[in-house]
Amino acid sequence: MSAPKVAIFMGAPGAGKGTQAVRVSESIGLAHISTGDLFRENISNDTDLGKRAKGFMESGQLVPDELVLDMLFDRVQQPDCQSGYILDGFPRTVVQAEALTERLNGASVHAVDIQVPDEVIVDRIAGRLLCRSCGNIQHTEFDPPETEGVCSKCSGELYQRKDDAPDTVKDRLAVYHEQTAPVVDYYHSRGILARVDGMQSPDSVFQSLIQGLPEEWKRESV
Ligand code: AP5
Ligand code: MG
Ligand code: ZN
Repeated sequence: MSAPKVAIFMGAPGAGKGTQAVRVSESIGLAHISTGDLFRENISNDTDLGKRAKGFMESGQLVPDELVLDMLFDRVQQPDCQSGYILDGFPRTVVQAEALTERLNGASVHAVDIQVPDEVIVDRIAGRLLCRSCGNIQHTEFDPPETEGVCSKCSGELYQRKDDAPDTVKDRLAVYHEQTAPVVDYYHSRGILARVDGMQSPDSVFQSLIQGLPEEWKRESV
């Protein structure tokens, strides 16, 4: 069996990590693992972990590393992650990146930075709509639902995230530049970083992501 393939999608809040991770996951058959989604699931199920993470998330701060690492490493042990997975929103600190490197000994790792300027982020997040039933991501302007408040994929209810309030977005961006930008350098210095222009249309970003995958991944999937 070939080494597990692990793709790491990085980028500021609203850069399009979730939108693209869903599409790439369907296209190359690797599980999509979003630490933000895992925390939101824990919060809506009112678990202990959810209770501990809630205040950090709602104020736009990072959840402490030890909570994130336990949750993530537990999740990627599941059978659907055996051949590999796409990480969306993890690692977000150098401590998390180092823990992942240690854990991934022998895996084929590919990191991508989806680049979008801060000014654009604010509009993207202000208009984001999420489906309560299937997690589909839409946008009031860039991907509007046919019927207001109704998911175009499954007809579920669309909602806005609490941490998408403009003041919290400013805090999330500051946290990103301070704590997560160094993770991009971490992968760059290891020679496994691709950069993709996140200002293109969602279809073009998708094409760029697929084209940028390691050659050996592409060979194996044909
Ligand atoms: P998380 O859920 O990961 O949020 P985030 O990183 O802030 O990123 P977003 O989900 O907001 O943006 P995205 O890049 O996925 O963009 P999307 O595709 O939706 O984390 C939330 C919180 O959880 C954190 O603040 C933290 O508290 C905690 N947390 C999570 N992981 C953690 C970790 N590892 N360590 C510690 N704490 C952690 O797109 C945004 C919008 O733009 C959508 O409406 C979409 O339709 C639209 N759009 C997408 N692409 C395009 C395009 N090309 N053109 C036009 N519009 C587009
Ligand atoms: Mg997301
Ligand atoms: Zn839906």
